[in-house]
Amino acid sequence: MATGVDAPGRAQVGLKTARTDRWWLAPLRIGVILGFFIVYATIRIFMNKWYWVGEHHYLTPLYSPCINDGCTPGSSHLGTWFPKFPVFIPYSIITFAVLAGFRGTCYYYRKAGYRSLFFAPAACAVPEPHKNYTGERKFPLIALNLHRYFFYGALVFGLLNVYDGVLAFHGTDGGFGIGLGTLIIWVNLVMLWLYTLSCHACRHIVGGRLKNFSKHPLRYRYWTFVSKLNPKHGTFAMASLFTVILTDAYIMALSAGWFSDLRFIN
Ligand code: FES
Repeated sequence: MATGVDAPGRAQVGLKTARTDRWWLAPLRIGVILGFFIVYATIRIFMNKWYWVGEHHYLTPLYSPCINDGCTPGSSHLGTWFPKFPVFIPYSIITFAVLAGFRGTCYYYRKAGYRSLFFAPAACAVPEPHKNYTGERKFPLIALNLHRYFFYGALVFGLLNVYDGVLAFHGTDGGFGIGLGTLIIWVNLVMLWLYTLSCHACRHIVGGRLKNFSKHPLRYRYWTFVSKLNPKHGTFAMASLFTVILTDAYIMALSAGWFSDLRFIN
């Protein structure tokens, strides 16, 4: 039996949608960006190389931390916890699992994915092609409710990225130095933290489950701060996607020897 807008009892308009504007442009644009990132990240994590620039201590966030015996010497800031991974296991499998889980369950990316990848629906007043609606109550979509736990994991990886960023002030002769790579890494760090702290789950964690704020002035401060960032969460989500790719691509190019780092100090 027909469902949705074709269900019995619904007015049979005979149009796919009555919208006359270019409603498909936004989901198409976001879909292309998400598709590019998914392909790029998949290729990069299976490369298992070109993630570390020993001369300047640049480590790409896609491979941080590198913790198996196969990691390039110097890149394992936390030491190596595992023997060398076989060639079909990405060195960054743990990092990737947590960060992909964090972004994949993010409220903003859920909206983007539902509209651009699953057309569920693609836009307001545009019928979706799916016949059934089950919400997010069944596997696998019920896993989207794990977002707050991925948030805790992303906090840990965010702190590791800051540590990597501090190490990136490494001069060519071993002292203090700043290069274009250092700046790119820190721009990415700022975007990643703006994205993480503007998270909806973060806002609930710092300010939720309280009967009043008057007895919790510190949490009220945190909540006020996060609430200012939160309306821009979608912007930070997309901006940080670009800065992650830029950082990784720049470090890959240096590591592969395609060009040298532009140095400002030493
Ligand atoms: Fe987007 Fe939490 S809602 S990261």
